[in-house]
Parts: sequence; C-alpha cells; structure tokens
Amino acid sequence: MTAVEPPLALLAELTHRCPLQCPYCSNPLELDRAAAELDTDTWKRVFDEAARLGVLHVHFSGGEPAARKDLEALVAHCSTRGLYTNLITSAVLIDRSRMQALAAAGLNHVQISFQAHDPANADRIGGYAGGQARKIEVAGYVREAGLQLTVNAVMHRQNLDELDDVIDMAVRLGARRLEVAHVQYYGWALKNRAALMPSRAQLERATATVDSARARLKGTLVIDYVVPDYYARRPKACMGGWGRRFFNVSPSGDVLPCHAASTLPGMRFENVKDRGLREIWYGSAAFERFRGTGWMPEPCRSCDRRETDWGGCRCQAFALTGGVDAVDPACEFSAHHTELVTSAERESAAAAPAFIYRRFGAAVPA
Ligand code: SF4
Ligand code: FES
Repeated sequence: MTAVEPPLALLAELTHRCPLQCPYCSNPLELDRAAAELDTDTWKRVFDEAARLGVLHVHFSGGEPAARKDLEALVAHCSTRGLYTNLITSAVLIDRSRMQALAAAGLNHVQISFQAHDPANADRIGGYAGGQARKIEVAGYVREAGLQLTVNAVMHRQNLDELDDVIDMAVRLGARRLEVAHVQYYGWALKNRAALMPSRAQLERATATVDSARARLKGTLVIDYVVPDYYARRPKACMGGWGRRFFNVSPSGDVLPCHAASTLPGMRFENVKDRGLREIWYGSAAFERFRGTGWMPEPCRSCDRRETDWGGCRCQAFALTGGVDAVDPACEFSAHHTELVTSAERESAAAAPAFIYRRFGAAVPA
C-alpha cells in the first residue's frame, strides 16, 4: 500500500450563490443556502490548517466567490500564509476597484469562465443578460492589475462551433492559458445531458481546432484540453485519484474528495467545524473509501492502468450504473460502456431540449 501524501490544493467553495445559472454547473442539485455558509473566521482557520497540512494552492470557487464580501480578507489571509491563490470567477460581480483590491490583497491568478464567444449565445447559456460584455471588461482589469489570466471555456453542442473564435478571444484578452473543457456530466450537467452532448463529428472538429491552435500559438497561449468522457475508451483520473492530491470544502464546511461526492450514497463526510483538516485527510472513512487501488473490483484490480486513472470517476460510475464500486462506464471494459456511447450518439443526433437552468429551489425548465 502506498503512503498517503499531503494534498497539493484546496478548492474552497465559498458559496453556492451565483448570479449566473449555467446548465452544466458542477454544483450539487441541492445548493447550500447563504445562512449555512462558513463565516470569515472559520474559513481563515481552514486556510491555516491547510497551509500546515502542506497545501500549496487555494482555488476560490463557488458558486460565485465574489458574492462573498469577505473575499479580499480571505485572499489576504492566504497570502500571509504563503498560499498561492487563484480566483475562479464568472467576473460579473467584479468591478475595477474590486479587482485592484484583490490584487492588493495578494491574489496571484484569475480564471474567468466564458459561456461562448457570441454575446447573445453566451448570455443565453449563462442565463445572465450583459454577462459577456462584463467579462471582457473585467479581463482587462485583471491584466491592468498585473495578474495572470486564464480563460475557462466550457464547451458543448451549443457553443462548440465557436471554438475558433473563443481561442482568438483568449489571445486578444491577454490570457496566457485557455482551458477548453468539454462538459463533464455531473450535477446540473447530467440533468441537461441531452441539451449539451456534442456529436462525435463536432468533437473531432474541436480536437483538430485545438491541435492546430496549439501549434500556431506556441509561446503565446497554452491550451488545456479536457475531452468528454463519453467518447473516450478509458476514463480520466478524476481529481487525480480519490484523496490523492486535492480536496474541496463546501460552503457549509463539508470536506469532500471531489465536487460531486455528496451524490454518493452511504458516505458520511466530515465537517471543518467538527474536526481538523489533517485528521480528515489522513483519517476519515470517506477519504479512505476509494483511495489507492484496494477498493477496486475486477477488471480494474488487475489492470495496468489502475495507478494511472485510479479507476476513473466514482460519481459518474454511481450516477450511470447505481454502483459506487462499479467500473466507470467511460472505460471500454465496463459492461455499460456501449450503452453509454450509444446514448451519447442518440442524444447528440436528436434536437436539443430546452435547458434546465441552475436555480435555487426546484429545477425548472427554461
Ligand atoms: Fe481504468 Fe479500470 Fe478501465 Fe483499467 S479497467 S482502464 S483501471 S477503469
Ligand atoms: Fe466525484 Fe469524479 S466527480 S470522483
């Protein structure tokens, strides 16, 4: 058995509140209310514990982390503890003075999500009028403040044909990195799968576009490319393996091995209000449950990729098969793989249904 190493990064989900309503949001369907959120002092204690545990990076996320008025104070606190800070934001709640305040607090990096290139399409997907124009403005404030910028573009059947324009936009905005991330189907995205699933032909065109842009923009823009699981033959190593490198703290303080872990049945996740991060990372049953390879069934147990993909994604395996220990259906050795690919092809060939937007309360069709 390999020794458990300290985590590299903490994803701090400061809040589930968000002015956007993206239909592929990875937040759970049951969102934490504002009243349940950890207060400033508790978050500061969490960051102290994270630094002592060996964490190097803190990613401020949500929901929309800028919905928290104490964001600057939390960034400043992390900075004094030597933690590298990255703000993952929709940008629409940030103005010039706030960006300057965040930079002054010691923020290192900003990642702005874009829903598309075309403003009308982007605003429709995010469910927020004027969002695209605001994001472009804020990207300018990020550069003006001397911060590194990453553009994050979540791609799917309703924006993939804009990929060339998205790449040009990232260059124009002065981003050094672009994440072209095909939707991963958890949370709200699973609910909207048929509205988001690209065709195999769309995917192949997108891959060719990324390949040629990488060659053309070498030295200007780094492009990270996350392919959709459903057309792959092997799964990805979700979170780099369960309990190996990363963990999330939810708005109310639950410590989770991944953003969708709360969808798994029979798991009890511990909370920062009850136990220290070190004890949770090294000792909680939830982190131990799928750590390493000991939990794996066949064929994973004797597969030569078991320490490469760590058995794929537990949340996806459960969502699609009903079994938490099941082989991830993205793997061609899963009995569910053919059905998965067939359903992706069928859904992408049919007319896209209306989005079910991410909203507090009941999930409602558009
Ligand atoms: Fe990964 Fe298991 Fe498939 Fe092997 S059998 S590639 S370990 S999911
Ligand atoms: Fe939970 Fe992949 S999202 S293991």
